[in-house]
Amino acid sequence: MNAALPFGLPGATAFYLALYLATFVVHMVFMHYVLAGATYLACGRLLGKARCAACEWQGILLDWLPFATGLAITAGVAPLLFVQMLYGREFATANLLLSHRWMAILPVLIVCFYLLYLQKSAWISRRQWVWRPLVSVAVCAGFLFIALSWTENHLLMLDQAAWPRLYESGGLRYESAGLLPRLAAWFFLAFPSLAIELAWQGRLTGVGTHAVPQPTAAVAGLSPVRRLALTAGAGLVGCVTAAVLYWSTLSAAVRAAVAGPLAGPWLAILGGAVAVQAAVWFIAAIRGRLSWPLLVAATAGWIVGLVAVAVVREAIRLTAVDLAASAASHAAALRIGGLPVFLVFAVLNAAAIIWCIYLVRMTTHSPMKDKVIDRGG
Ligand code: HEM
Repeated sequence: MNAALPFGLPGATAFYLALYLATFVVHMVFMHYVLAGATYLACGRLLGKARCAACEWQGILLDWLPFATGLAITAGVAPLLFVQMLYGREFATANLLLSHRWMAILPVLIVCFYLLYLQKSAWISRRQWVWRPLVSVAVCAGFLFIALSWTENHLLMLDQAAWPRLYESGGLRYESAGLLPRLAAWFFLAFPSLAIELAWQGRLTGVGTHAVPQPTAAVAGLSPVRRLALTAGAGLVGCVTAAVLYWSTLSAAVRAAVAGPLAGPWLAILGGAVAVQAAVWFIAAIRGRLSWPLLVAATAGWIVGLVAVAVVREAIRLTAVDLAASAASHAAALRIGGLPVFLVFAVLNAAAIIWCIYLVRMTTHSPMKDKVIDRGG
């Protein structure tokens, strides 16, 4: 292909690929919050009780991680649908080969979900402090395992030569040179996302990230914004380092194809987006506050960067899978109707969500709101 993605593909295929990319970016937004947020909280818990109580970011994460996990899971459903339309054979083969090892993400996800509620419960606040770091570290390990599983499954999809070998050996693990660097790139990429998401949450909940920091707000000598800048900066450096390592594991042919017309322009956009974010956090770290224009610039760089990451990731996959070969089935799928059914269920679901929000608002205006919920202090 000589055109930048998603151009150069047959119309129906390009349509579904664009939908896959758009929905995958939404999955990334929430999945990053969960992955980096669980890690931030676990590290914070390890620093001790007093520092936890003083850190507003940990308080926000404790409250919001269960909900964000629900969003990450829900936002995973749409790309899961499109990935099967586009790469059904490869995706299903990798799932089947990894078998129980792959399915293990479900119980792990369920346990992590419940542990997130446990760690904000009044029950755990009545236990010794040591339980809180233990639970946070367990949650963090669980989400890391899920991320590892997605990466392993993705890489196995692309390595068709390994399929017979894995089938014959009956092994449930797929090891490759790219696995750890790729996982590390995903892990570190989650931190700049978390920093921006927390900056917005802080702004909306009155943490005051745009004002001159008060000395009393410092934890380990760092103001709230400096802690975010450190989180984002470390994430960017780690991600770029891991991405370069992963790049070095790709064959010269794959590298040339991805850096060529297929995704070369997207790589350049990605570089620009990383530079914008790095510059914003550098300025914020020096000033100790994050002004409105800086937050908007960082957010724009972040969103554009996530889109570019998704497209470059797809370009690497397209060097291993010939999407045009299944163009006829994509065109057939596009001709199948169903819009009225979709709209009926969209309205029903919207009504159910509005009803839930109404119920929650009613509850928070009742005496229940005085119920003590421990925030980790
Ligand atoms: C909350 C825990 C989760 C974490 C930490 C997580 C993490 C990840 C990561 C790191 C990737 C990228 C893998 C790679 O390219 O190497 C990924 C991809 C993906 N995830 Fe999630 N995920 C989570 C939950 C889910 C759930 C519950 C679903 C489905 C409902 C889902 C659907 C997807 C899909 C469809 C992809 C793209 C797969 C592909 O294109 O090959 N994720 N996830």
